[in-house]
Amino acid sequence: MTNVTPGTRTLVDLLQVAQLPPFLTERLEKEFTLHDFIAPDDPDGMLDEIAPKIRGILAGGMKGPNANLINRLENLEIIASFSVGFDATDVVAAQERDVIVTHTPEVLTGDVADLAMTFILMAPRRIGEAERFLRSGRWLEGRMDLGTTVRGKRLGILGLGRIGRAVARRAEVFGLNIGYYDIKPMGDLPYRAYPSLLDLAEASDILLVACEGGEANRGLVNGDVLKAIGSNGFLINTARGPIVDQSALVAALEDRAIAGAALDVFDGEPNVPAALMKMENVVLTPHIASSTHETRRAMGDLVYDNLRAHFDGNPVLTPVPPQT
Ligand code: 8YV
Repeated sequence: MTNVTPGTRTLVDLLQVAQLPPFLTERLEKEFTLHDFIAPDDPDGMLDEIAPKIRGILAGGMKGPNANLINRLENLEIIASFSVGFDATDVVAAQERDVIVTHTPEVLTGDVADLAMTFILMAPRRIGEAERFLRSGRWLEGRMDLGTTVRGKRLGILGLGRIGRAVARRAEVFGLNIGYYDIKPMGDLPYRAYPSLLDLAEASDILLVACEGGEANRGLVNGDVLKAIGSNGFLINTARGPIVDQSALVAALEDRAIAGAALDVFDGEPNVPAALMKMENVVLTPHIASSTHETRRAMGDLVYDNLRAHFDGNPVLTPVPPQT
């Protein structure tokens, strides 16, 4: 392992596969050589030229290296992802080769939980619809239809990890009754645990998706789960789009099998189904849960600190735990 001194140009080459904020790339460029591999014209040609010297990959939550790319880079040591979610990177392929993968947990928990809590209020209270109502001049013609009280309703949380718990703490203050389903035992908590997602959905007025993405959880929230939430219920997703069967969600909303939804993530984003765009009872945002100056700066600092630690010969700060 070659040590590098901050402030000097070194031979450590990083392959950048995802778009990153300029403050981060500018900081990294002072100490590493970055190779832009976000949308290469000739990926094979480029790799033929630079693959042997690449020792690190810069990835993101929506774009990371697959097994082919990881295995093509014989001197790869580390993949640093500018995200807490690591489903875009083939972590198993990396760890099989002892390539370290790092992510950015904790620093974004508060902002993601704040957006989820905002959604929990917005969808039942019809806030997005209300703003469109006012802006389009419809208030001049009459009053808008009534919304639904959030206080006292049952919030079901799918995945009670860092973010799920942070939302639960906020939701308690708003007087919601909290239940959850998680594949991991959660120990002693003041929230009611349900034995399955279907049981949780049946006992929820609002179902929040807060679990990990990835193949194992693709389509977890299917048509049956949506029906179980019921025609007065709402679905909130600030985790990953593919966890929800998007066609089933569109159908459930069209059939009024659920009352509404609030979504920050989509299967196939940035494409969003035209059917969702037209629905008044759906809140839609463009994957902004962690998009604040403060959190993005903290995420960038963590990406830098992980790389710096590794190439200084120290343990990384926030490794992705072993995946099997
Ligand atoms: C980012 C995310 O929008 O952390 C994650 O898992 O999805 C978001 O914080 C994304 O990683 C930006 O690349």
